[in-house]
Amino acid sequence: MDKFIFLDNGATSFPKPEEVYTFMDAFYRKFGVNPGRSGYDLCMETGELVENTRKMLTEFFNGKDPNRLCFSYNSTDALNLIINGMLKKGDHAITTTIEHNSVLRPLYHLYKFNGVELDYIRFDSKGFVDPDDFPKKFKKNTKLVVVNHASNVIGTIQPIKEIGKYCRERGIPFAIDASQSTGKIPIDIEELNVDVVTFTGHKSLLGPTGIGGLYVREGIEIKHTRAGGTGVRSAIKTHLYEYPYRLEYGTLNIMGVAGLHAGVKWIQKKGMENIHNHEMKLTTKLRDGLKDVEGVTLYCQDDLRNHISILLFNINGFEAINTGTILDVDYNIACRTGLHCAPLVHEQLATDKIHGAVRFGIGPFNTEEQINIAIEAVKEIAQSRKT
Ligand SMILES: Cc1ncc(COP(=O)(O)O)c(C=O)c1O
Repeated sequence: MDKFIFLDNGATSFPKPEEVYTFMDAFYRKFGVNPGRSGYDLCMETGELVENTRKMLTEFFNGKDPNRLCFSYNSTDALNLIINGMLKKGDHAITTTIEHNSVLRPLYHLYKFNGVELDYIRFDSKGFVDPDDFPKKFKKNTKLVVVNHASNVIGTIQPIKEIGKYCRERGIPFAIDASQSTGKIPIDIEELNVDVVTFTGHKSLLGPTGIGGLYVREGIEIKHTRAGGTGVRSAIKTHLYEYPYRLEYGTLNIMGVAGLHAGVKWIQKKGMENIHNHEMKLTTKLRDGLKDVEGVTLYCQDDLRNHISILLFNINGFEAINTGTILDVDYNIACRTGLHCAPLVHEQLATDKIHGAVRFGIGPFNTEEQINIAIEAVKEIAQSRKT
C-alpha cells in the first residue's frame, strides 16, 4: 500500500508538530493540576501557562486586554456563547450563505424558537460576499452581524474589513468565525474592524481538539448563558461579570491550552506567512494539475489570491462519497466528502443535488510529491469513468 496522504486538514490539522505532542505530555505530567483554584506553587505555575497563552493569543489578534481572551471547547462553543449571549427576542441578525452550521444552526434556533429576525447575504459566483449588500439589510433592531472569515468549503477569504467598516459606522457588533483562518493569515481586529473573533485550536493553530476560544473587544458585552464555578469569589451567587470568567465555566482544558500554546509557538517560529505560502504553492499546483482534466469540475478556484489552502471538486458522474472512497481505498488519500457542515454553500453551487463535493485541505506538512500523487489519482478516477 502506498504511504498515507492526509488531505483533510480542513477538518483538523494532522499530524501536529512534534513539539505539540511533547509539550502536552510533559506539561500534563508536571503541571496537571487545576489552575486558579488554589494558592500552592504548582497551581500558580499551571495558571501561568494559561495566562501566558491568553497573552499570546491576544497579541495574535492585536487585542488590548488578555482578560478578554476567553477559552472555550472549540469554535462551535464560542459561537454559541456569543450568538445566544448577544441576541434576544425582537432583535435582528445578519449572516451569510457561506457559513458553517456552527453559525447557521444557533442563529436558526433563535429565529425558529426565540423570535429573532434573520437575513442571509449570498456569496457571488467566485465565492465572495459583497460588503455593499450588508448596509441594505441593516435595520434599527440589527444587533449582530456574523461572517465566516475563510470558507471551509471553497477556501475564499471574505472582505471582513469592508463589512466591519459598515457595521462600525452603524454601531452594530460584528463577529467573525475565524475557525479556518486563525494561524493561516493575520487577523488584526483593529485593522479589520472586528468586535468578536472566534477560533478553534485543532485546525490551523495546530493544537489538539477540545480547546478554542474568542476575543471580545472592549465595549462589547455578552450576556451569560451559563453559570458555574470560576475558582474565585465563590460566595457570589451569580456567575461573575468580569472577563475572562464571564465566558468561562468550570475547569479549563489545560492540556488543550498547553497544546494550543505549543502550536502557536511553532507557527511563530516557522512564520505564519511562510506556512501560508507553502500551503498556497501546493494548492496552486493542485488546482493547475486538475483544472483542465476532462470530467473534473472545480468550484470557485479560478483566482487563488484571497484564498486559503482548500480545494473543492467533483468528478462528473461520481457521487462525492464514491470519489472519496476510491481515493481512500485505492490510493490511501484521506479527504472530506459531502456537505462539509455548510449546506447553504452547496445549495448555491447546486452541489446539494449530488450530495456535495470532494474537499482537499492542505496543511503545513503536505509535500509536492503528495500533491503529484493526488493529481494523478484524480486523473485516473476521472479517466476510469469514461472507459
Ligand atoms: C468555518 C468553520 N466554522 C466553524 C467550525 C467548527 O469548528 P469546531 O468543530 O472546532 O467547533 C468549522 C469546522 O470545521 C469551520 O470550518
